[in-house]
Amino acid sequence: MRIGKYDIKHPIIQGGMGVGISWDKLAGTVSKEGALGVISAVGTGYYKSDEFTVKTKKDKPVDVLNFYSKDALKTIIKNARKICGDAPLACNILHAINDYGRVVKDACEAGINIIITGAGLPTNMPEFTKDFPDVALVPIVSSARALKLICRKWKRFGKIPDAIIVEGPKSGGHQGFTYDQCFQEEFQLENIVGPVIEEAKNWGDIPIIAAGGIWDKNDIDKFLALGCDGVQMATRFIGTFECDVDMNMKKVLMDAKEEDIKLMKSPVGLPARAVMTNLQESMKNNTAPKVACISNCVSPCNRGQEAKIVGYCIADRLGAAYQGDMNTGLFFTGSNGYRLDKLISVHELIEKLTKGE
Ligand SMILES: Cc1cc2nc3c(=O)[nH]c(=O)nc-3n(C[C@H](O)[C@H](O)[C@H](O)COP(=O)(O)O)c2cc1C
Repeated sequence: MRIGKYDIKHPIIQGGMGVGISWDKLAGTVSKEGALGVISAVGTGYYKSDEFTVKTKKDKPVDVLNFYSKDALKTIIKNARKICGDAPLACNILHAINDYGRVVKDACEAGINIIITGAGLPTNMPEFTKDFPDVALVPIVSSARALKLICRKWKRFGKIPDAIIVEGPKSGGHQGFTYDQCFQEEFQLENIVGPVIEEAKNWGDIPIIAAGGIWDKNDIDKFLALGCDGVQMATRFIGTFECDVDMNMKKVLMDAKEEDIKLMKSPVGLPARAVMTNLQESMKNNTAPKVACISNCVSPCNRGQEAKIVGYCIADRLGAAYQGDMNTGLFFTGSNGYRLDKLISVHELIEKLTKGE
């Protein structure tokens, strides 16, 4: 698979997972193994505790500059490079975050090769990478319409996407659909990739990557046969030794049953898929942690106003999951999360995905 100037041996991208689920160890190892490792830029202020950032007593990064810490992102990328050398390495930066443009520039300055952006329409993405012409830009979309809009807006930069990720409603975390659409046949991944492939042909030779609910080599082969150039997978990578998150989150997923995985509301304004744990229980009986905006993480939340409405702060709860807090953590997963049963190495996982179970 080729994305911009970068050749990736296996047609597999490890999806970005924030907070702290795909950082240096996971992304570095995936890239070393010949797939594309993706560092999440979300909540880098949580990286290695107090080393980089101003934090509250409860270890929460204060405000945007600390939550999206430039120094921490630089160090994560540097440490990932120690593992993968010059292999292509990507960074996932959500469009909905405060300071989007600054974080994109931070990642470019730190030597990232590819930037992947979802959660919103990145119509201005190329504006921030003008000084870094080698950096490949990859938006995530959930419809042909979104792709068309992005390509139209990018005309003024003289750029088309270096690849497109099409994400269906079985993916982990935030969905690019309404709650009801997530269950409707016409929005399932196998039904949305075709129109995106067709739309892409109007703009150039853009590799198309399918994401959401892809689990094994059979699934990968199915989407390659449908005309995709590769796949992005995230949930399955949580079941690796190298995944950066606390062991407690890996346990939550390994213990989860199919019926424990549900869509819930999020302060980002999109449905989000997670394992139902103590957090959701405590939200029902009003014992959940109080919402007080500290990190000012995403613009749609409006400094905690949306968080108050939905009943939890996304930055704090994902930060708690990263730290392994079973009581107050929010544990995102794809709909296949219950299928994880043991930890394996990234090497073994890539072998399974490329050679079969
Ligand atoms: C725990 C978790 C966190 C995620 N965080 C992000 C994120 O920060 N940004 C993003 O664009 N996608 C995020 N995703 C989506 C993944 O990158 C990926 O596209 C999707 O989960 C693929 O579906 P799969 O998990 O079924 O393989 C997350 C997914 C999971 C499971």
